[in-house]
Amino acid sequence: MPKQPVHRTVLVTGALGGIGRAVCESFADQGHSIVAHDIHQPGSEPAQGFMKELESRGAPKASYYRADLRCVEEIDAMFDGIIEDNTCIDILVNNAGIQKTAPIESFDYNTWSDILATNLTAVYRSIQRAVPGMRKGGWGRIVNISSVHGLVGSKDKAAYVAAKHGVVGLTKVISLETAGQGITVNSICPGWTDTPILEPQITGRMEKLNSSREEAVFDLVVEKQPTGKLVSPQQVAGLVEYLASDLAENITGTAVPIDGGWTCQ
Ligand SMILES: NC(=O)c1ccc[n+]([C@@H]2O[C@H](COP(=O)([O-])OP(=O)(O)OC[C@H]3O[C@@H](n4cnc5c(N)ncnc54)[C@H](O)[C@@H]3O)[C@@H](O)[C@H]2O)c1
Repeated sequence: MPKQPVHRTVLVTGALGGIGRAVCESFADQGHSIVAHDIHQPGSEPAQGFMKELESRGAPKASYYRADLRCVEEIDAMFDGIIEDNTCIDILVNNAGIQKTAPIESFDYNTWSDILATNLTAVYRSIQRAVPGMRKGGWGRIVNISSVHGLVGSKDKAAYVAAKHGVVGLTKVISLETAGQGITVNSICPGWTDTPILEPQITGRMEKLNSSREEAVFDLVVEKQPTGKLVSPQQVAGLVEYLASDLAENITGTAVPIDGGWTCQ
């Protein structure tokens, strides 16, 4: 007898950004329900339009929740809302993140706090809120979008590198706390990926080189990624999908690079 496809419910944070959007699309294409999160208002066109798109792609249900991840009370309110709506999260993709660069002498405290809160503390809180439901159901997948900067450093990125290394460490701990319970927890560590988060760095490189956008992108990428190619959001989404599958039940606690060879050097 052919196996019946299993329909899961996937929560993706930062769902309206580059990687988040691709992850939602990929799960919708597989017929899973999507719980999308971002900072935009629920009634806004980007949120409403994307939910319609996900349902037309094949998601049985696509719902949207707003929370500013810098605020733990807003994260809690989002999870309370999800529970009130009788939704159980099977797959949690902690994707939202921000990045700002400055040398340590001028790295201001508010920027540090915002990056740590969004990129690390929100991951801790979301895992803490999602794990009880996964334990109850005896199955769960958590995929945290860390970065190559969870494995190696780069100058002027103190807060980002600290937070992303923190995500890799948190992943290991929660994978041990959930091992043997049908739950896996992994990090993905992308290199330069073609999304809006890169814009300030591309613009900066264009100004520095007085070059075209194309030249600036290549210069930025090849400096670190021997392939010389940006990672695409769809390539990251494909890896998320694999780690969330039953085939990957023995992969837990890992930090998987998708970085064109950046971290093998
Ligand atoms: N693009 C890259 O080169 C790259 C490389 C490695 C890792 N990453 C990581 O991938 C993840 C996704 O990044 P992306 O490139 O798609 O960026 P993006 O800027 O396109 O998307 C980030 C999303 O997070 C949301 N977000 C930011 N701050 C928030 C807050 N306080 N509350 C709620 N939502 C918030 C944004 O609204 C946005 O939709 C991030 O964690 C990032 O660090 C990106």
